[in-house]
Order: sequence, then structure tokens, then C-alpha cells
Amino acid sequence: MILSKYNRKAMKDSLSVAAMTSVFLQCLDPQCRAQYPVSEVRSECACGNLLDVRYEWPGFDAAAAKQTWAFRAMSRDPRDRSGVWRFREMIPFLPPDAGVITLHEGNTPVLDAPRAADYAGLDFLAFKHQGFNPTGSFKDNGMTTGVSQAAALGKSVVACVSTGNTSASMAAYAACGGLRAVIFIPAGQISSGKLAQALEYGALTIQVEANFDVTWKLVFQLVEEMGLYLLNSVNPFRVEGQKTIMVELMEQLGWEPPDWIVLPAGNLGNSAAFGKGLREMQQLGLIARLPRLALIQAEGAAPLYRLLQRAAAEGKTPREVGLEPVANPQTLATAIRIGAPASWKKALRELEATRGVCETVSEQEIADAKAVIGLCGIGCEPASAATLAGIRKLVARDVIGKADRVVAVLTGNLLKDPSYTLSYHEGTLALPREGPFDMAQGKKPFVIEPRFGNRPIAVPPDLERIRRILARRPLP
Ligand code: F0G
Repeated sequence: MILSKYNRKAMKDSLSVAAMTSVFLQCLDPQCRAQYPVSEVRSECACGNLLDVRYEWPGFDAAAAKQTWAFRAMSRDPRDRSGVWRFREMIPFLPPDAGVITLHEGNTPVLDAPRAADYAGLDFLAFKHQGFNPTGSFKDNGMTTGVSQAAALGKSVVACVSTGNTSASMAAYAACGGLRAVIFIPAGQISSGKLAQALEYGALTIQVEANFDVTWKLVFQLVEEMGLYLLNSVNPFRVEGQKTIMVELMEQLGWEPPDWIVLPAGNLGNSAAFGKGLREMQQLGLIARLPRLALIQAEGAAPLYRLLQRAAAEGKTPREVGLEPVANPQTLATAIRIGAPASWKKALRELEATRGVCETVSEQEIADAKAVIGLCGIGCEPASAATLAGIRKLVARDVIGKADRVVAVLTGNLLKDPSYTLSYHEGTLALPREGPFDMAQGKKPFVIEPRFGNRPIAVPPDLERIRRILARRPLP
């Protein structure tokens, strides 16, 4: 393969904010703690648990790091144009001569949203909008690191199982870096925008007639046999990229952590990444304290929430109780329609470290919150809107205080799922007729009420009719 044909940027760097870092993979289980070199291809420890990328950063100078990162924001180097690799001292796992595959991901804005704050009952709310990424979701932050590691390991075929965004992102980064992409998606269960992206970026696309969890079990058995490099969020190098979302956020907030960071929770990779990033920043002296994490799940796909409830009811630790998968997860927020999240142990660790909470929200609450985010001029895909719905509930329950500083992470772009948005405004958004839908409230199908609906008005090309409509419907 001719390196220069593809978008791979050299990783060598002369700036120094730490002495030589050592890096290794380590089992997440405190009883095991087995270590492996980062050059070893493995998704899990010999004991079956997931792995973390671990670093030793001797002599890390937090002030110098902040200065270096700020300085790089003015650089034209493609690595510095990336909101992930600009913070490369936080993710120093690639060998010095490895190429970085980047689409200038990250660099996503933090947007004040007073109208959404009002809706939630808060004085202050901002959205960190990961939908501004090159493929429109937070997955790009993790794919630049995951695909770069795949290339550094000499892998030529990458694979993932996805509810849509992971596959769109992986397809783009693989194409950009000259690797082949194979994606497995639950047939008919991902939004058309995401499927279209994967096809356009040239991924071999396999639609399995099963849900995400069943597909995941099949593919996990296949990867080794077929020599595929797995890029689901069980891949610890993807988690490394996603953790920089928190580094960028802290920089944007002047290194002053908010009280809460709120995010939607599906397979729980992002929850794991955010917690790890925050803990490492505290360890390195970049931030003085940890914000609390609030993970929001859809009612019909809430295995982590159920686990925490069960543990509390039985007076046991969540680990003693263990995760019981939701057999037939259901939500119109298809991105988070997952019943057996792979990273649940990592997410629990981060909830404990940050004194975090987990909440569930209904389909109606997600749909309304999404419309309110739209009315802020911001917009997002359904899973992202679970954040605002969750915050509203947590404020009502006095878990989040009215005066707390809250940042919610919007994980995907509004245009990812246009049919959801259109049917909401047209009043036809409904839960499916088939399947055990807990939230169906006795009505099948359960139609979402468009409380913030905005129907288009059809008119003939008649000036008088148009005048009358405008006179009747004052502009907002
Ligand atoms: N929001 C969006 C828009 C997502 O696409 C996902 C996950 C999540 C939230 C949840 O993040 O899984 O790290 O807890 N999408 C995955 C996918 C599963 O295949 O695209 P998580």
C-alpha cells in the first residue's frame, strides 16, 4: 500500500509535555489486571473482560500541556486541525512513525441553549454538539483513533456491528485511510441517513435480519476466524478518541468542570470513554474535580437502569447483581436500541467514580425534547434528545439542582434521521404494532403526540390564499 495515496499524517512530534510515556492494555477487572502490549490484537482479556488502554505519564506538566494545545489550535498541521489529535499527549498509544487517519474530526461547539434550559427547569444549560463532526456523530472522535490503530497494526479490513452511526463513521475513516470496511447492521432498524452514508463511503454492507444484540453475538464469533479488525466500542483505542470529547469540552470551559455531564447511553462505550477521560484529566492535574455523569436510556432499552434499580432493591452492589439483558429492546431512538450493552462494567466504574446517575425517559419525552432542541436552532437526532428529557426528569426529582451547571452531549446530527422528525411534525410518529412495547400504554400502535408539532401547509399557487394563511397564522 502506498502510504501517501491516503490521508495518513505522520505522528512524530517535537513538542514535549511529558517524559516518555509507557502504554499497555490492561484488564478492567481489579481481581485480574492482566496486561498486554498495545501491539496485540485482542478485544478482551483472557478472563473475558474488556481492556483499557493504560498509560504512565511521568512528569506530565498540565500547564505546559494546556499551552501546547492552545498553541496548536492556530496550526495548519492536519493533526492539530483534528480536535482529537490536538490533544495527542492524552492518547499516546501509536508508535512514533505511525500514520494518523483524520478527517479533522472534533472541534465541535458548546452552544448555550436558554430555551432548553427553561424547558428543563435549569438556570444554565449548554449542548456540546457532536453532530458537527465530519460524518455527523461522536463516533468520528473514536474512529480516527481506532482506524489509525488498525492501520498501525497492519490490518487491512475493519468491521463493526452498528445501529448506524458507528458504521457510517467507520466506513468514512476506512475509505479515507485506504482500508476495507465491512459493516453488519440490523435489517430495517437503522435510519436511512446512516445507511446511505455507509453505502456512499463504500463499505461492504451486510443487513442481518435480527436486532443489534443478536447480530453482535454472531459477528463477535466471526472476527477472529475471518481476520477482521473489530471497531465496535469494545475496541479500547476507540474509547481513547472518544475520551478527548471531554478534554476538548474542558478546554472550552476554561478547565472549569460543570456540575453535570449528561449523555445518552446505548452500548455504553461513550459513557466509559467520558469517565476515563475525566478521571485521567484529574489525575494529570488538568482539572481539579470531577463532574457527575448522568446516563440516559430509553425506557424500552434500559438494561443499565434496570440493573441499578435491582441492586438498590436487593441491597447488593450492581456487580453482584450483574446485567440482565433486555431481550427485545424497543425505542424509536434506534441509535440506542441495545439490550445487552458490551461496556456495562466500564460504565458502572465511571458512574461510581463520578457519583453518577442513570435515568430513563419515555418515547414521548424524547420526541418532545428533540423538538425543543430544534426550537433552539440546534437540532439533533432522537437518541441525543434523551439528554434533555432526562435532565428535565432529574431536575423535577431534585437530583440536578436548578442552579447546577449542566452540559449535555448531543451525539448525532438532526439530518441523520429525517423520517423521525417529519413524522413527529406530521403527527404520525408511532411505536411499532408488533413486539412487547412496555410504553404502549394499552394503545397499539402508540402514537406520539406532537406537542411541539409544526405541520407544513399545502397551498395552491394562489396569492390570495397565501395572504389569508399568513394573516391567520402570525409569524412567530
Ligand atoms: N447517540 C447516538 C447518536 C449513537 O449513535 C449512539 C450509539 C449512542 C448515542 C450511544 O452511545 O453506544 O456509546 O452508549 N450508537 C452505536 C452505533 C451503538 O452502532 O452507532 P454508546
